[in-house]
Amino acid sequence: MTTQPTLEVLNSLCKRRGFVFQTSNIYGGLANSYDYGPLGVELLRNIKASWWKTFIEKRPDMVGLDSQILLHPETWVASGHTTSFNDPLVEDAVTGKRYRADHLIEAWQQKHDRPDHELAENMSVEEMGKYITENKVLSPDGNAVAAPRVFNLLFETAIGAVTGEKSKVYLRGETAQGIFTNFKNILDSSRVRLPFGVGQIGKSFRNEVTTGQFVFRTLEFEQAEIEYFFDPEKTDWKELLSAWKEDLWSFVTNQLGISEENLRWRQHSDSERSFYSEDTYDLDYNFSFGWKELWGLAYRTDYDLKQHTKHSGHEHTVTDIESGKTFVPHVIEPAVGVNRMFLMVLTDHFWEDTERKRTVLKLPFSLAPYKVAVFPLVRNKPELVEKARKLYVDLCEKFPTTWDDRSNIGKRYLYQDEIGTPFCITVDYDSLEDDTVTIRDRDTAEQIRIPQAKISEYIAAAASRMIR
Ligand code: GLY
Repeated sequence: MTTQPTLEVLNSLCKRRGFVFQTSNIYGGLANSYDYGPLGVELLRNIKASWWKTFIEKRPDMVGLDSQILLHPETWVASGHTTSFNDPLVEDAVTGKRYRADHLIEAWQQKHDRPDHELAENMSVEEMGKYITENKVLSPDGNAVAAPRVFNLLFETAIGAVTGEKSKVYLRGETAQGIFTNFKNILDSSRVRLPFGVGQIGKSFRNEVTTGQFVFRTLEFEQAEIEYFFDPEKTDWKELLSAWKEDLWSFVTNQLGISEENLRWRQHSDSERSFYSEDTYDLDYNFSFGWKELWGLAYRTDYDLKQHTKHSGHEHTVTDIESGKTFVPHVIEPAVGVNRMFLMVLTDHFWEDTERKRTVLKLPFSLAPYKVAVFPLVRNKPELVEKARKLYVDLCEKFPTTWDDRSNIGKRYLYQDEIGTPFCITVDYDSLEDDTVTIRDRDTAEQIRIPQAKISEYIAAAASRMIR
């Protein structure tokens, strides 16, 4: 297994090259918050586009949705989030800082090498408190911590300008509830028939206290969630879950190009599983700070639709056209954090090429922010610049293309390697004579000379091989 770049290394690359910036850094930053820069936004968009194409566009049994961040507050009462969407937190007795009790226990177990101990994720809040006392688990500052208490993760805000007349609403804690509350709208307005799924990508918010995990755990984050509805008498949920496991694995390895050795499935224990779920698996990725959840795959039964029926008074049933049976569909939910996919993609494709002394992001062609970079050999020869500029403008119509005429060619290559640009094209003196250019491959660093008219064909052919 290859060693993953640390979060510090990735953070530094991301800042240096404009993938990710700390939010509000001119004001000292905001905890657990990051902005995506010119390259980060392109990589994020490419990951989301790949997800949408695979799971929505290319599947006859799937449709998309874009529901709001602010929903009717009763939504979160019905879903159980106002009461059960909690984290167990402990407070440092000296500094007053708060930490996730399960994370402190995990760190203690790793430090003391206790794989024989019960995992924190399987403990109740009381058991965590007992474990912390018995093993003298301390805060990261080395101080004692108080017994864990549960804190709700939902962010509250208010609608209305007049104090006293404002009404409390929540920033959504998951995109899933917008799908459930639109279930009847989608059923009544489209041609879907069970089994079918609804997917959406959007921002969610959680009042997380754990810091220092870069874009892995942030207050504001993007989810790509699917609710897949089915008739439990016609579709075996275990078989459906297995089919989804294969689909998610295939997406991560084939579309995102992630190494299989850095992926694993992990089934949730009874105590760890969310209150609404009958069976849950996590697709974990081996980040530099340990195996962590990338994708959750949960069988949520008919819990959500029944809860919304109870709280809204509106039925959420389907009538089977063959048997006439009316029932509430069950649901399987594959839910992934887009920002976690982003971090995984950067981690897995980061390559220190010690032989050529360069850092390379070996991104699949489809994910690279720019597919091609165009350079004039030097920038003080107008005829070279003019020819290169024309080529750049032409290529922009076909691929996301960037332009660079700063410093020397060697430095330009190093820069493009570090941001993952698969091909660099240089217009030189020969180009003026015979309309050929040099094209350099990011992964092999080899250069060949080809006619300018063949560039698109060459890139398209090379791109189809460039998965890893
Ligand atoms: N809907 C599942 C999750 O938000 O993690």
